[in-house]
Order: sequence, then structure tokens, then C-alpha cells
Amino acid sequence: MAGITRAPIGIVAGSGLDLHDILDCAVMNLPFDTFPGLVPSNVDGHEGAFVHGTCQDVPVIVQCGRLHFYEGLDYDTLVRPVDILYEAGVRTIVFTNAAGGLNPKLRPGDLVGATSVDAWPFVDWPDRPETMQTDFTVPGCGHEGKYMWVHGPSYETPAEIAALIAMGGTVVGMSAAPELYRAQSLGMQAAVISCVTNVCGSNEVISHDDVVTVAERSSERFRDVLNTWIVTYNVTD
Ligand code: HPA
Repeated sequence: MAGITRAPIGIVAGSGLDLHDILDCAVMNLPFDTFPGLVPSNVDGHEGAFVHGTCQDVPVIVQCGRLHFYEGLDYDTLVRPVDILYEAGVRTIVFTNAAGGLNPKLRPGDLVGATSVDAWPFVDWPDRPETMQTDFTVPGCGHEGKYMWVHGPSYETPAEIAALIAMGGTVVGMSAAPELYRAQSLGMQAAVISCVTNVCGSNEVISHDDVVTVAERSSERFRDVLNTWIVTYNVTD
């Protein structure tokens, strides 16, 4: 396993989310291409590396950046980072991401813990379930709801936003669902937290750069929430 040190907790950092600073002592930085079968990320704001260290004495691996279907990858390649975290001993994992707010009460910078994750119909991977439940939510996010997964990379049209709202969506994003499915198939306990970077349906034109900028600005609050959770985490692995 390319020399990766074991840890019970994994944090996957999404677009622009600078979360490796939760580690008070980072001892190892392994780029994705250190690992056989793992391709580098081609998206701005996704470094593509595993950083290993400790947070309040708990060993944690932060995956900086992730892979997406819209990069043209197949399911097994896309979820390979989850396999690597599992092989490194991770049994509790938090997938973070940038997302658009479907609930009109949400504002840029808000954090939403997903209680369930649905995938936009018509895009499949082998055995994709209709809906998935997360195993836990991280306290302190302030909001909870349903994460709607879309393929991307284009942002949603008004008609798609209306459909996602009608399906009960709270936030919409282009990640998390395939990785959540793989993590749970491996027996990991998984949570999903979204940072709202834009309000869907507000007539503003969204760009990936804007999404990354808002996510970067929200990283400190995100780190606080994760830090507090890790302090109370009971390491049993
Ligand atoms: N839609 C899909 N993915 C996103 C969005 C959005 O509005 N914002 C950030 N990621």
C-alpha cells in the first residue's frame, strides 16, 4: 500500500475545501499517482493526494481532492480512493463537497449534513440503489437534508432544479453518491457534508471558480465542525 500509514478516520475534501489543516501534525503526503490504478484529478481545486497525520491524537487521513464521473472515468476508477482508504484501515469516513442549495433558506457558506443521498435518474453504475441512507451525521453543521447527485459538469437548468426540488432535494452536487455506495459496500460508516457555494435558481451564473472561492472561504468553519467531531470520536479500530 505505497507506505500509507493506517488510520481509523478518513476525510475526503471536495472542491476548494482546504481541510488538511485539521491535522495538527501531518506526517505524510502521498499524491494519487503514487498508487497503482489511481489516476490524478484533472479538476481545479482538487489536489489529488492523501495527507496522513493526527488530529487531537487521533490518526486521520485527509484525501485532498477527488475524482468525478464527468472526468470520463468508470465507476471502479472513480471509487479507487475509497478502496485505498479502506486498505489503510479507515472504517469511518466523511465525504465533504461543494453543493448548490436547493432549499431556498440555504445561503452560501452553510453546511448541510446529508441524511440521505439520491442519484439523478438515468445515470447509473453497477447496482446503483434508488436511494442511500448515510450512517451518521456530524453535529454542528446547522442543517440536514437530502443530497441529490448529478453527473455534471454543467450546472442545472431551471427545469432540472425544479425536478430536484420536487424529488425532495436539499442540496445538489456532482460527487459523494458513488463513493458513499462503495464505502458502505465495504462496511465503512459514512457521512456526507455539503458546503453550500451557491443558491440554485437565483439567476446568478455559476462557475467552478466561484464555487471553489466560496468553498475556500468556508473551510475554517468546516474544519471547526470536523475537529469537534473528531475530539469526541471513540477510536475502536
Ligand atoms: N450544482 C451541482 N454541483 C454543484 C453546484 C450546483 O449548483 N454547486 C457546487 N457544486
